[in-house]
Amino acid sequence: MDDSPRHLEVVRLGHPVLRKVAETVPEEWFATGRLVDLGHDLVRTMLEENGVGLAAPQVAEGLRLFAYWLPGDDSHPETEPAVLVNPELKAVDAELEEGWEGCLSIPGLRGLVPRHRRIKVKARSVDGLPVSLTADGFHARVIQHEHDHLNGVVFLDRMRSVQSLAFEDEWERYVLATDEP
Ligand code: NI
Repeated sequence: MDDSPRHLEVVRLGHPVLRKVAETVPEEWFATGRLVDLGHDLVRTMLEENGVGLAAPQVAEGLRLFAYWLPGDDSHPETEPAVLVNPELKAVDAELEEGWEGCLSIPGLRGLVPRHRRIKVKARSVDGLPVSLTADGFHARVIQHEHDHLNGVVFLDRMRSVQSLAFEDEWERYVLATDEP
């Protein structure tokens, strides 16, 4: 039997699963093939679709887990893909910061989204181990974006205005170019 990770179909905006509150992963599923495999499938699909995050509802599984990773930049090295199950987020301070986001379920679009700059996260691994971390900047942004998917919320809902909404090509050409220091 082939149990290597599968590339799953990513559903797009309009699929009802993206607008539902996802179910808590039941205790008895931790460390089972079903949950571990889904975690691996999410990671493979995310990487092959060139995303930095992918939540289970985006592959039509209404469960509270997501995968993410961080490409390296000046402030931190690249991270290994991680899967967080039943995550709980808490803002460390009320400060919001706007930044650009896109979504594999809303392909081709980018928009400015306000997010908490720093958050605390409590979650479980697919094996049921407790995970506890503090994230800031882009790390915090990715986790808040993915966590929103577990509550039926997409980044468009969080935008203060749709004025910044742009197609990726135009965004790269006109926005990214002028954002460079
Ligand atoms: Ni998304």
